[in-house]
Amino acid sequence: MPSPISSSLEIPTLSQSQRSLYFSLVIPTYNESKNIKDLVAVLTELLDEYLPNNYELIVVDDDSPDRTWEVAEALTSDYPLLKVIRRKGERGLSTAVIRGWQNADGQVLGVIDGDLQHPPERLLQLLDAIKNGADLAVASRHIDTGGVSNWNLVRRFLSRGAQLLGLIILPSVIGKVTDPMSGYFVVCRSAICDRQLDPIGYKILIEVLARGSISKITEVGYVFQERQEGESKVTWKQYIEYISHLLRLRLSLGEFQRFLKFGLVGFSGVFVDMTVLYLLHDPSALGWGLTRSKFIAGEVAIINNFIWNDAWTFNDLSSKQTAWRSKLKRFIKFNVVCLIGLGLNVLLLNLFFNILHIHYLAANLLAIAIVTVWNFWINLKLSWRVTDTGQ
Ligand code: GDD
Ligand code: MN
Repeated sequence: MPSPISSSLEIPTLSQSQRSLYFSLVIPTYNESKNIKDLVAVLTELLDEYLPNNYELIVVDDDSPDRTWEVAEALTSDYPLLKVIRRKGERGLSTAVIRGWQNADGQVLGVIDGDLQHPPERLLQLLDAIKNGADLAVASRHIDTGGVSNWNLVRRFLSRGAQLLGLIILPSVIGKVTDPMSGYFVVCRSAICDRQLDPIGYKILIEVLARGSISKITEVGYVFQERQEGESKVTWKQYIEYISHLLRLRLSLGEFQRFLKFGLVGFSGVFVDMTVLYLLHDPSALGWGLTRSKFIAGEVAIINNFIWNDAWTFNDLSSKQTAWRSKLKRFIKFNVVCLIGLGLNVLLLNLFFNILHIHYLAANLLAIAIVTVWNFWINLKLSWRVTDTGQ
């Protein structure tokens, strides 16, 4: 089965004539020659009953040194619904999955590991979920009936740590499912076709969650099995690739530009805050007390920031709700969030100035930087986004 070496990682829509097949399951393999035969046999038995002649299995092998591609090709005579793609000079789990989906004819696309660590029987529940209207059905280790076999503490810590890092960098994507690290899921082609997918490393699901038009997600619990043959290909490289994948999505999903704007507005607020603080507190000006001066300077800066953020940073959200009551509600929420931030700022300022003996202006700058991240996330989730749902 020739696989087009296409540089793009887009999944094509199906032409009218191609819509005959319901399901395509991609099995990415690297050195799985001892596992692939049993897996193909089990999957065929399950799918022959569930989707007779209406599915295909696509092994995408990256020219494994143990010649998995050869073992798989030898199976095609007994399993006519099996296709084998042998990629040469290319490596990578997620790009292998996409190559398989690009060569698939199914209206529903799926992926399962080639090492029998994903229990094949769960696939039928995933397919049931799609039949019941889900765009995406994910096998999750982290819901009831889910779990990992006897993973050691380090493996559990690394997996959960990676998920937590994802929640910090990309909460709107990673927070959509309980097991964003899963490599076992099925998705409607319509949810991901004609989109530029651009994953790095192992986590193809994160790319689907970020770039797909997914409205209904169902999760099915499963227990990640112990490997019987071969070994995991996960090294530190996959963790580095995971972080760069998250950062790349962060940059490309638009929120980063918004954060930059928020930072610029915040910078103008710093200028306003510092100027008013100087005018109120400095002995050469009014010489008022530090805390009183700081609160007034902070409130003036908050008003400045709200005006700019409402008109520029969050304009795409605020322009849908121009009524003065909505604007007032946004200002009050923004103010409350920022006043909490101001309180945090004063606390940090006093901590840095009185405890760590940092010069008060440098201490103020440091405190403002920390509070800016707080203000951005809480305002995005609370002040603008929530009021948007009322329309
Ligand atoms: N084609 C191809 N190219 N397949 C690959 C490559 C590659 O470079 N690297 C790994 N695979 C295949 C393996 O052969 C296996 O079938 C599957 O991808 C998972 O690889 P493992 O090395 O066994 O990963 P794991 O057991 O540590 O599982 C982790 O990653 C999986 C994939 O995301 C866990 O996070 C699982 O939940 C997850 O499914
Ligand atoms: Mn594995």
